[in-house]
Amino acid sequence: MPVTQFNTPERYEYQTGFLANLETEAIKGALPIGQNSPQKCPYGLYAEKISGTAFTAPRWENQQTWVYRIIPSAAHGSFQPVSSDDRLKPKFNQIPTQLRWDPFDIAAEVDWLNGLHMVAGSGDPALKNGVAYYIYGATKSMDQKTAMYNADGDMLVVPQTGALDIRTEMGRLLVRPNEICVLPRGIRYRVDLVDDAPIRGYILEIYNGHFQLPELGPIGSNCLANPRDFQAPVAAYEHDSASSWTVFNKFCGQLFSSVQTHTPFDVVAWEGRYYPYKYDLGRFNTIGTISYDHPDPSLNTVLTCTTTAHPGTAIADFVIFPPRWLVAEDTFRPPSYHRNCMSEFMGLIQGSYIAKDGGKGGFQAAGASLHNCMSSHGPDAEAFNKASNEDLVPVKVGVGSMAFMFESCYMVGITDWGLKACQKVQEGYSTESWGGLKDHFCPPTSTD
Ligand SMILES: [Fe+2]
Repeated sequence: MPVTQFNTPERYEYQTGFLANLETEAIKGALPIGQNSPQKCPYGLYAEKISGTAFTAPRWENQQTWVYRIIPSAAHGSFQPVSSDDRLKPKFNQIPTQLRWDPFDIAAEVDWLNGLHMVAGSGDPALKNGVAYYIYGATKSMDQKTAMYNADGDMLVVPQTGALDIRTEMGRLLVRPNEICVLPRGIRYRVDLVDDAPIRGYILEIYNGHFQLPELGPIGSNCLANPRDFQAPVAAYEHDSASSWTVFNKFCGQLFSSVQTHTPFDVVAWEGRYYPYKYDLGRFNTIGTISYDHPDPSLNTVLTCTTTAHPGTAIADFVIFPPRWLVAEDTFRPPSYHRNCMSEFMGLIQGSYIAKDGGKGGFQAAGASLHNCMSSHGPDAEAFNKASNEDLVPVKVGVGSMAFMFESCYMVGITDWGLKACQKVQEGYSTESWGGLKDHFCPPTSTD
């Protein structure tokens, strides 16, 4: 069945569709009919528009949402810097060496906000150009009178351990391992744990634009991630215009906070195309060869953010490696050795990955690897020998497994935390992986 069987049961209801113009009201009649900004909104609500794209962006990519709320979000105190630490700042060490990380730890007594660490990235949010990759880990919910928003970019969240109960301005999302969610730039949210279970995972942040579904070309009008499987929240508000709330804002990699005397989660109704959403990776319709050779992993792209200057070249692709059948004849079935002008950051939600040793010191769940721009990589010696000699019968691989890749056109640098402070970099990864490759060259014997 193409749906993940989750340990944590669903708690909420959703609307469906990708980049659909959705509308939802927690109280019937809260949405104005036929207009966005009447002289007086229903029930004494305020109208507020959130623009996710420039007003004049082409219609196909234009994203905005009108929210109808109890108090406008503008009613808050001034923002103050929270601290001078640089765990969210895009300061990178540029190195070409292939890197792999052991599973990242979950620090004790931290919430989502304090358990975020940028591990790698490229570019500058001030110029809306680049990407950032994070590891998150938390053992407690955010304070119930707090909210977070990110002015720097959209965040694609990939849970590895534990379910996230995310309260957003647009409503609620339950996001479990093997699901992903996208939290768009500027949308207020709070992350709670489910039954106090710790959480850990990965985040892909894009400073440019927004995620799109990849073009399907000759594949046709179905397959890969289908639009109907994306789930968006329904309006769910709370009414609190009296107590003190703190709203945190990541702005150019610096954390700020401001205080307000009303809940940010007071949206009674909304309509538009700019909203958070989630997707079950188990619903991905995987495509592959039924003849020979190994197609490029772009065939497994769930979401992409493309450059406008070079169509087909992604600021970031989110690619997955789900359970699938391998049937190719006379074929080396794992990925081949290659160098890529794109940078490849991989993570593992669960299970093991076909081209890598999944044991201790290998590519493990909650770990990661980075093969940077034009840095050579491919199967390690053991995987090569196995795949070169196996019987090429149909085989299902990746059962109980889900690896993924953030692939970017940028050269991806590593933060000080990613390189040193996390203490997870595997020394000698490249020599251990490829240093043992043997010379099998066997030229024809001369007949002279
Ligand atoms: Fe690769």
